[in-house]
Amino acid sequence: MSNTTGQQMDWMYSDTVKEHFMNPKNVLLGDEKSDADGEGLVGDIKCGDQMLILIKVSDGIITDCRWKTYGCASAIASTSILSEMVKGMPLKEAYHIKPKDITAKLNGLPAVKIHCSVLGDKALRSAIEDYYKKTDQENRIEEEKATVICHCMNVTDKDIEKAVKGGVKNYQELQYETKIGTVCGKCKPRAEELLHDYKHLYG
Ligand code: FES
Repeated sequence: MSNTTGQQMDWMYSDTVKEHFMNPKNVLLGDEKSDADGEGLVGDIKCGDQMLILIKVSDGIITDCRWKTYGCASAIASTSILSEMVKGMPLKEAYHIKPKDITAKLNGLPAVKIHCSVLGDKALRSAIEDYYKKTDQENRIEEEKATVICHCMNVTDKDIEKAVKGGVKNYQELQYETKIGTVCGKCKPRAEELLHDYKHLYG
């Protein structure tokens, strides 16, 4: 009979997550950095999560994708499957991959672990932008669209991201900075999730 911990693990992670965590694909082993066409590094080692993604590109197609992380099991599984997804994919398509596309391929992630797939998504985006900059295609870099989180005070996810980059550490500080959640308060749960995600990314 399995113990409680075993039952929880079975419940939490899909077989696809377990497979990619136990046998991660396309891990950066040696010094392959030198011949990469694009490089993206996100996260903060101080809070334990950092992700490096390198891509090789030919005729607008990603021909190789390597990665290295100090992240958790979910970050490893997410980026492993992401690296498989993008090989052979046009840059334009890869540029628009979202965390929900990654978690769908993994057959889901526990809700508390969704933010881990954001690391790979952001690092890939950064690697593609690095490639665009190096190849004089900066006009292809797109501003990420903002989503309104607090409708009462018109605060977006970009405002929360900016606040965290500026040093905000908790919900009270975020509220002081942006006035989020100061009317009906319905936005608080989503705002706290995003705060958590961005703290992982920017420390
Ligand atoms: S939706 Fe944010 S306070 Fe109402």
